[in-house]
Amino acid sequence: MSSNPDPKTIIVSNRLPVKVVRNDEGMDFQPTEGGLATGLGSIYKSGNNLWIGWPGATLYSKEEEESTLEIMQSQSMYPVFLTDQDLELYYEGFSNETLWPNFHYFNQYSVFDDRTWESYKEVNQKFADAVLTQANEKDTIWIHDYQLLLVPALLRKQKPDLKIGFFLHIPFPSYESFRLLPFRRELLLGMLGADFLGFHTYDDTRHFLSSVNRLAGIGTDHGIINYNNRQIMADALPMGIDYDKYNDVASQPETIEKEVEYRTAIGSPRMMLSIDRLDYSKGIPQRVKAFEKFLEQHPEYQENVSLVMIVVPSRYQVGKYKELKEEIDLLVGRINGRFGRLSWTPVHYFFRSYPLNALSAFYRMAHVGFVSPLRDGMNLVAKEFIASRLEKKGVLILSEMAGASKELSEALLVNPNNQAQMVSAIKEALEMSEEEQISRMTVMQETLKRYNIYHWVDLFMSRLDHVKNQQLAQKTK
Ligand code: F6P
Repeated sequence: MSSNPDPKTIIVSNRLPVKVVRNDEGMDFQPTEGGLATGLGSIYKSGNNLWIGWPGATLYSKEEEESTLEIMQSQSMYPVFLTDQDLELYYEGFSNETLWPNFHYFNQYSVFDDRTWESYKEVNQKFADAVLTQANEKDTIWIHDYQLLLVPALLRKQKPDLKIGFFLHIPFPSYESFRLLPFRRELLLGMLGADFLGFHTYDDTRHFLSSVNRLAGIGTDHGIINYNNRQIMADALPMGIDYDKYNDVASQPETIEKEVEYRTAIGSPRMMLSIDRLDYSKGIPQRVKAFEKFLEQHPEYQENVSLVMIVVPSRYQVGKYKELKEEIDLLVGRINGRFGRLSWTPVHYFFRSYPLNALSAFYRMAHVGFVSPLRDGMNLVAKEFIASRLEKKGVLILSEMAGASKELSEALLVNPNNQAQMVSAIKEALEMSEEEQISRMTVMQETLKRYNIYHWVDLFMSRLDHVKNQQLAQKTK
């Protein structure tokens, strides 16, 4: 254990907020995409925090490992290096071909393979070992997401008194889905190494407690779990965003210049915006098809509105992601070929990531934010869109299947499988009066301002402290 006596918080996640990218000159360090990294990325530097995770890339030489370690440590990060095999079996395999589809109710995509499970256990141990080299007794350990479900129990075994929190950023599936996993009990017991477990929604929490009860045979009572003489707590804590950051970036002159540049280049009188990582859970083909249907049923909107669609490359080595990319390419080609004019492109499609001020320019530019995942833990894009609407105009179409819909009920809520409903929501959004737009947007902005990322972290930490104090009080009885 390290000798630093100041209690700190150790954030543990699969990826660090900074990733190594190899180029001709050697290694470059770039910000990581994805909700978790962008969400926590802005706040971890503000306190006595250390972030442990994978820095991206593999096959580091000794010198590369040393320089990465040095650079990362100077920014309060500690890298866990993964091998090509770890990536294939733990990351692409068990995390993204077994857990991800199961937790998002895509069970037909789930692959069960003992080799990937073995690797998942080994890599979780690697992360736990890294934490143990950095942690002091009084530190708080905060483990994130489905890639690291076993880490809480691995740490608990070595250090029974550690204060451990866990947050799941994706949905926890219903018992009927979770029970299909071959290693379901081990996974639950892994999570129960934590003292406090947080989920985005009440339903996720309820599903988790039901599985603990029915699959691990452990009694639960209103979010309290008594296991191995320890009182553990589970609760819903929807993650917020750094509201002021998105609001400030949207008002910067560079962002406004970019917005003008993009608006001129796109040329359409009105724009709808869709931004996602490439993922089948995001419902991208369903969204494009709904837009196509809308143009077909409402020809007066042809040449009047474009869909600007940013798809951020992700998990490209996993077969289902490759197939999805091909499907999207074909669909966009079809709709642009069918409706496009020399002066108007129906779908402006970009398969790449953008830096924050470019994203902010897109958020400013759009009249409608179109966020329609088939299943999503939270969806921070919906929240970032709201925070960027400085004039309070604009409409959000939001899937009921995104955790964010529980807080953003002033959005136009849709079932992404109901194409007719999506088509009428597009029409309603484009025709909504400014007065109504402003009134809905104001309510959503107030909610997001109040329940921002700082509030979320404080709430998580106070729940964790509360459980730990309860445990101590029980012990001294
Ligand atoms: O929110 C789910 C999540 O898997 C995060 O853990 C991660 O930051 C993000 O999506 C991106 O996924 P990946 O690290 O596989 O690119």
